[in-house]
Amino acid sequence: MREGAFTGYLAAPGFLPDLLAELNFEGAAGAGHLVFGDLVFARKARPAAWAQNVWLDARLMPAPSIGQGAKALKDIQRNWWPHPVRHARRCALMAEKLPKVSARAQVFGQPAPGAPLGSFTLWDEQTLIAAPACTSPYPDGQVRFEEDRESAPSRAYLKLWEAFTLLGVRPGPGELCLDLGSSPGGWTWVLASLGARVFSVDKAGLDPRISAMSGVEHCIGSGFGLDPKIAGGPGARVDWLCSDMACYPARLYELVTRWLEADACRNFVCTLKCQGETDHASIQAFAEIPGSRVMHLAHNKHELTWALIR
Ligand SMILES: C[S@@+](CC[C@H](N)C(=O)[O-])C[C@H]1O[C@@H](n2cnc3c(N)ncnc32)[C@H](O)[C@@H]1O
Repeated sequence: MREGAFTGYLAAPGFLPDLLAELNFEGAAGAGHLVFGDLVFARKARPAAWAQNVWLDARLMPAPSIGQGAKALKDIQRNWWPHPVRHARRCALMAEKLPKVSARAQVFGQPAPGAPLGSFTLWDEQTLIAAPACTSPYPDGQVRFEEDRESAPSRAYLKLWEAFTLLGVRPGPGELCLDLGSSPGGWTWVLASLGARVFSVDKAGLDPRISAMSGVEHCIGSGFGLDPKIAGGPGARVDWLCSDMACYPARLYELVTRWLEADACRNFVCTLKCQGETDHASIQAFAEIPGSRVMHLAHNKHELTWALIR
């Protein structure tokens, strides 16, 4: 490790190889990078979908003792989250000397935390790697919600809660939402609970409690069968196209392109499901859609979420 500021990419749990492939890095160390546990350090900061969190402006700092390390961190700012790779016990003791970071679960509908949350790790016993700013306001990028275990028919609703919370926007009452690949109805439940009108499409049926919700219309069929020129045609522009369909990203890209070209929908939130080998080329194609972003949500497994908000 050399002096000066650098960037740390924390891999989404289990997806370090995907992160390295996305960043075009090969092996544990190269001319431009170094792998340290589940972190990849590099000079430049760039968007990385497979990173659960990105450590910005990371630097090496001397920490001759636990107390001195904690003081050096506190001198920079209040909130720090430890991410031990080596010397876990020493890292934990240092964290004990720092102000407590709130462990409260996120309530859906409330804004994401606004206070900066830094991350640190011990490079060796007496040297810290510390990043005062990170791309996620949550510890290691892991948002934990106060869940609703009664109403939602599947845990998939947590993905949509997380996407809306991170994006800072969500459908308003009366807005028209398409929910493609909606069964058993977790996403439809989220959208209808917000007061939106939901046109829900799946080859399978919805949980009857969800199809009975006000504003929900369900159609058995394929999301690929909808013609944007008709479904989102004049006077019927769709406000949100949400897709959690089990399908290849390349096929979903074609669908999204058709909706964009027809100017038939304003906002999009789509899960890119990596069935088998990760299709980096299609993910890159999504990332290149102007104004959009691709992210790995804490509630995503081997999949990413693409969002375009306008
Ligand atoms: C992960 S599940 C969706 C879960 C749902 N979002 C929820 O919150 O409950 C994926 C769904 O995609 C549906 N699916 C797969 N291919 C589809 C297609 N061509 N059109 C519509 N739905 C499709 C499957 O039937 C399945 O219900």
